[in-house]
Amino acid sequence: MVKAVVLGAAGGIGQPLSLLLKLNDAITELALYDIVNSPGVAADLSHINTPAKVTGYLPPNDGLKNALTNAHLIVIPAGVPRKPGMSRDDLFKINAGIVRDLATGIANYSPDAYVLVISNPVNSTVPIIAEVLKKHGVFNAKKVFGVTTLDIVRASTFTSSVSRADPREVRVPVVGGHSGVTIIPLLSQISPPHTFNQEEIESLTKRIQFGGDEVVKAKDGAGSATLSMAQAGARFATSILNATVKGESGIVEPSYVCLDADGVGGKQVRIAVNGLSYFSSNIELGKNGIEKIHPLGDLSEYENKLLEAAIPELRTNINKGVSFITDES
Ligand code: NAI
Repeated sequence: MVKAVVLGAAGGIGQPLSLLLKLNDAITELALYDIVNSPGVAADLSHINTPAKVTGYLPPNDGLKNALTNAHLIVIPAGVPRKPGMSRDDLFKINAGIVRDLATGIANYSPDAYVLVISNPVNSTVPIIAEVLKKHGVFNAKKVFGVTTLDIVRASTFTSSVSRADPREVRVPVVGGHSGVTIIPLLSQISPPHTFNQEEIESLTKRIQFGGDEVVKAKDGAGSATLSMAQAGARFATSILNATVKGESGIVEPSYVCLDADGVGGKQVRIAVNGLSYFSSNIELGKNGIEKIHPLGDLSEYENKLLEAAIPELRTNINKGVSFITDES
């Protein structure tokens, strides 16, 4: 039995993400939780002829508890999205509390589940979830992931528009965090290999870092990326399921994780990033979650400068998330 749960399932990301998860044959139960409309979304998806049984929950009558109990994997797109002119950090005020409360539910009802965090600002919401789980004594650094897959997806699309490669085949490691200058595309490590000139490197880097703004601007007040994010979130969830349920090995996806897990290589990355405790790097997945945190590899001079610029902002974002929980009485 493999139960997947979406928290924030009735939203712009939640609905198409739930649809894509309903199409995943590895899932036998799909539980949809939101503060509004989740029973409606569940009823709609339940008519699709795939194995997953779909259930919808609202907060009353122990809705969160019933949604989370026996979860294998939990995806969290709950919270408000950006409007034009807003940074992801501007969302902290509202989303930090939402994520904290959902994490408390996870600690109480499904402490062994894999947790995939989409809610922004990811640089801070992942530390918030980790701190709540730590407070309850159930944190496992190998099982909590900030979903940065959309940055990887955008990097494949944007670089292939210049290199003319097939975007489905292109892989660019994007490391660091998930906001503006903390997003560090390692174009020197693109696969299949391609050499961009410096002008291309700079404009592609900027486009990957601020790709989300293109969508926010085009939607003109109606929110941020939802459909591409749903595809990216489903891709990452599928990678987790393929590793942890189907036992596939060698799956590598970048993700923003805590570098403290024992024996998986996080300490080496931590040294390379001036002691940050959270960072996105290439993660190798295994049947128990993170099997290996890959080192950053050789960086170009330009990429080293990007890393230098990212570190102070990441440190601020991480500390803000951690102290949101540790400063609570
Ligand atoms: P949305 O407003 O369309 O949907 C959010 C959903 O969360 C709503 O259905 C709302 O009712 C629900 N919600 C609010 N409080 C809740 C609670 N306490 N418990 C359960 N559900 C709750 O927003 P959208 O566009 O789906 O974005 C969701 C989040 O994802 C935002 O924070 C956004 O910034 C983030 N995001 C992250 C990306 C990434 O790459 N990691 C990319 C795009 C968006």
